Amino acid sequence: MQFSNTLQHLPTQFFSKLVKQVNAAKAEGRDIINLGQGNPDQPTPNNIIKELQRSAANPESHRYSPFSGKESLKKAVCSFYQREYGVQLQYDTEVAILFGGKIGLVELPLCFCDEGDLILAPDPGYPDYLSGISLAKAATHFMPLEAKNQFLPSYLEIPNDIAKQAKLMFLNYPNNPTGATATKEFFEETVSFARSNGVVVAHDFAYGALGFGEEKPRSFLQTEGAKEVGVEIYTLSKTYNMAGWRVAFAVGNSKIIEAINLLQDHMYVSLFPAIQDAAVEALLNGEESVKELVALYKKRRTAFVEKCASIGWHAAPTDGSFFVWMPVAKGFTSEQFATYLLDHADVAVAPGIGFGEYGEGYVRVGLVENTDRLLEAVNRVASCKLF
Ligand SMILES: Cc1ncc(COP(=O)(O)O)c(C=O)c1O
Repeated sequence: MQFSNTLQHLPTQFFSKLVKQVNAAKAEGRDIINLGQGNPDQPTPNNIIKELQRSAANPESHRYSPFSGKESLKKAVCSFYQREYGVQLQYDTEVAILFGGKIGLVELPLCFCDEGDLILAPDPGYPDYLSGISLAKAATHFMPLEAKNQFLPSYLEIPNDIAKQAKLMFLNYPNNPTGATATKEFFEETVSFARSNGVVVAHDFAYGALGFGEEKPRSFLQTEGAKEVGVEIYTLSKTYNMAGWRVAFAVGNSKIIEAINLLQDHMYVSLFPAIQDAAVEALLNGEESVKELVALYKKRRTAFVEKCASIGWHAAPTDGSFFVWMPVAKGFTSEQFATYLLDHADVAVAPGIGFGEYGEGYVRVGLVENTDRLLEAVNRVASCKLF
């Protein structure tokens, strides 16, 4: 059998190795505290499940959905953006329904790039950006995210010819893996950079609901001119603990939305209508559960970061997502450190190098176990006497 070049050149999944190591350790009967992944541990709120059950029993939900998704869901997305961010959207031209955020992130390079076209992506960054880039046979210019710049890319450091060539740029705040959030000024700079270089901005807002600072994380679309240059991708996976349900949406520039819908017309009929109805319930009536979830992650984060500080392990100061970006102990690479913690402390963390070259020197800790387990993880790390 001869597979296509496209298939053969897909990037290897760095973290599949970690998953295998964790599973092997668990199979030996070891009690692994797994902070290496980004899978929410809490259940989907009951009202959302009830709505799925109601709609699943309705024969109307057993038929094809409209190709670009149900009008009721697109209208709920508009109400949600108006309520949460004061952003006005047209339901029929500025909203595209997605089978999870990942799909939108993979579709955008296919919408904008031909072979060899350039895409700007953050380093460290969510590995799935590279999936779409690879499928489109595009090339990547990485934008370093460094502590000295609050983990925001510096547009001044992008060479002029690269900026001019770039077709698309991925950004993600609150950030996976660093936990950093974006400022109003940074998003304004982004619009101006995108305008002067003709770059399409794809802001991945997967952790939009999860902010712990005084101000809640900003939507890119709150920035003047943002709709002219880009879209934002919002998923229900983290906000409502719906990672398994596969429902998300892209909002913003109508031409980009049209392009996504066109590509999707050729690939899918839209989501199971009952999932779309449940998503409406989440977006319109999920506020209380989100508040509780943010309070839960904040409590976990404070407890974890304080306990780490008490053993001399100091987190990068960050304000959002459910990740903490922790420096490795002296003398270790991020991969060695993660392996050491798994072998000697039964604690799994994600090595920073898996997110890119600039992730070296850090590990990502996901706050996806309860506070007692998180504190127990720090006790186990402390007993290794590395800090
Ligand atoms: C930064 C980031 N973007 C997008 C996603 C994709 O989320 P989903 O495909 O579940 O909507 C994730 C999931 O972990 C993520 O961490």
